[in-house]
Amino acid sequence: MTTPDIIIAIDGCSSTGKSSFAKILAKELGFLYLDSGALYRGVTLFAQENGLISKDNVVSADLEQALGRLELSFGADNRTFAGDRCIEKEIRAMGVSSQVSPIAAVPFVRRWVDERLHALAAGGRVIMDGRDIGTTVFPDAQVKIFMTARDDVRAQRRYDELVMKGENPVYEEVVENLRQRDYIDSHRETSPLSRAADAFILDNSDMTISEEVAWVKGLIKGKFALYDD
Ligand code: DC
Repeated sequence: MTTPDIIIAIDGCSSTGKSSFAKILAKELGFLYLDSGALYRGVTLFAQENGLISKDNVVSADLEQALGRLELSFGADNRTFAGDRCIEKEIRAMGVSSQVSPIAAVPFVRRWVDERLHALAAGGRVIMDGRDIGTTVFPDAQVKIFMTARDDVRAQRRYDELVMKGENPVYEEVVENLRQRDYIDSHRETSPLSRAADAFILDNSDMTISEEVAWVKGLIKGKFALYDD
């Protein structure tokens, strides 16, 4: 028998490979995958396009009311939509990455995103990745994983990802962006990035995704009857 409403929370720093891992795991276990970072990125793009964040990262108080007009959702292949417009490419570009952390530090933005995450996850079996899923969004999640990897490994992954997407990144800028995001994400007042006391640590610096999946399957084996082997 399987327990309904299962949440697997995966948190960790930027570019630790959370989303690739979470997507594959969700497919293997037949869970819904929800990328909480995509919602913060979607809000950032919205703020930029509506002139609600300045170049030096000052977020306008008007964003709170304006969020009433924003409808973010996920379509096929986990692509992110604002209304019926696919914004997947825009939200992964450096323009959004460079302003998402200040946006994610704003308490009313966090409340807005948390409400959507709860609505999207309602009643389902979900794997959700982010920074505060196991600590704040779903503190009662049945399985919590905190992912880490060495800084050089993370920077190279992010750089490769941007190149694959057709961008022309400068390695030093990628390193600097990661460093700044780590700092802001773990030092903000509201729900900073931190490991839940009951989260298992997964350092994947020298692991393949298959090894990671095998690791987590070992972890949850016996906890839920989710797969046969
Ligand atoms: O996972 P990501 O890099 O796409 O996340 C983008 C930003 O959103 C990241 O810099 C921190 C923020 N974030 C957050 O504060 N809380 C979450 N649960 C997920 C992301």
